Amino acid sequence: LPKLPLITGVLKYTEENNISFCMPGHKGGKGLLDTAEGKRIYDNLTSLDITEVEGVDNLHHPEGIIKESQQLLSEYYGSRKSYYLVNGSTGGNLAMVFSAFEEGDKVIIERNCHRSLFNALILRKLNPLYVQNKISSEFDVPLSMDIEHLFDTMRKNPDTKGIIITYPNYYGICTDLKRIISEARKYGMKVLVDSAHGAHFGAADVLPESAVALGAQITVMSAHKTLPSFNQSAFLHAGEGIDTAKTDLYASMFMSTSPSYMLLCSMEYARFYLQEKGMEQYALLAERLEKYRKKINSMEHLHILGIEDKNGDIYDIDCTRFIISLEKGFSGHKLFSYLKSKGIQAEMKDNRNVVLIFSPFNTEEELEVLYKALSECDFESLKEKYVNLKLGEIPQLKLKPFEALNLDKELVPMDSSSGRICCEAVVPYPPGIPILNIGEAIDENAIRLIKYYLENEVTVLGVKDGKLYAAVQKPDSIR
Ligand SMILES: Cc1ncc(COP(=O)(O)O)c(C=O)c1O
Repeated sequence: LPKLPLITGVLKYTEENNISFCMPGHKGGKGLLDTAEGKRIYDNLTSLDITEVEGVDNLHHPEGIIKESQQLLSEYYGSRKSYYLVNGSTGGNLAMVFSAFEEGDKVIIERNCHRSLFNALILRKLNPLYVQNKISSEFDVPLSMDIEHLFDTMRKNPDTKGIIITYPNYYGICTDLKRIISEARKYGMKVLVDSAHGAHFGAADVLPESAVALGAQITVMSAHKTLPSFNQSAFLHAGEGIDTAKTDLYASMFMSTSPSYMLLCSMEYARFYLQEKGMEQYALLAERLEKYRKKINSMEHLHILGIEDKNGDIYDIDCTRFIISLEKGFSGHKLFSYLKSKGIQAEMKDNRNVVLIFSPFNTEEELEVLYKALSECDFESLKEKYVNLKLGEIPQLKLKPFEALNLDKELVPMDSSSGRICCEAVVPYPPGIPILNIGEAIDENAIRLIKYYLENEVTVLGVKDGKLYAAVQKPDSIR
């Protein structure tokens, strides 16, 4: 037999024909087949895979059809200038940070940012001030950043050049971005938004407003996560106060010089779809989902979050996502596997929650399968010991992440690691919020928290056989 492990493995998965309640937003091509324009892409997929031949423009120097298409994108979202990206929001976040900040700039960022942003802090040699995230005590769901901590940090550090916000987070939970932007304006701080999960925002009245419409200076969106567009496709939007010569430069610098025209065409299609059908289709989707949310919420042992759960910490929720939150003592991991055994592919899970991502191409029949699966679920089999998620105080940042990255590191027993500089982030999953980040001083509180999670059998990244990665150099010898 020929050795084709990758092709064989992927085809085996696709043959399972799971219902896609996960990315990408086109849901196995259904989003393309939904319109005559999309069908043209679907039918010509491989012939769309061309290179920059005459007449098809150049993403790195657009003067023709790509320029026109990007202008249409910009008009749709209401940006000053918009870009197609083929390296996902991962590349977009790098381009965003490089365009807005200079080496050494002080920036405020939530500690639970996506790792592409953490990489951007390192590569751009920035001086981060971290803002703590919150966890919902009711549902054990990670929330947005602590807004009071954010405002306090802004007040105490008026020389900060900008703030980087995630809007919404992976669970679809939104912070009060409008209020943050208005506060940042008072200090002349830029607001950069990682809206990887929010490309569909603003498409219909039932959805939160898009970060661009709310006035963010730069916004990055993954087209592929929620829209009918292929994996890796993303948008970068520049707004007021941003030098577009810089966004031109860095959007190009962090991208392949051989961009796929399949991806570019799928991004144009996503914009077209939003413009032509978004208002109607997202409203219908929201209606469909609300009907099933109510039906499912009448069951015991679970609750899908919705508008009734909005409060000071949950400013808004993306209604095109389900966070199925189980009662304390039931396992999200087990529910995720159970759903998979019923042919339902969910997006993500943690100790108590399963997240499903929907798009207009998820049908009523598919939701009925979900409802049936949950109705037939033997919840006793999902039981597991409850672990109360905890966050500690943010440890002191001794060295900037880029400085700490290059230090020699060694594994140090946890009990003798206090005072040393952390060289590898320590992150319990869940909640996925770092206890220690690179460059921070390991302290007694952090050690206590790490032990707490380990004792409760939570996976903690960055811990090896009870040891932490610390800098060989002692803090006093470094400065
Ligand atoms: C908040 C956030 N930002 C950025 C990214 C990276 O996006 P992409 O997969 O488009 O590179 C992700 C991916 O999951 C994410 O969750």
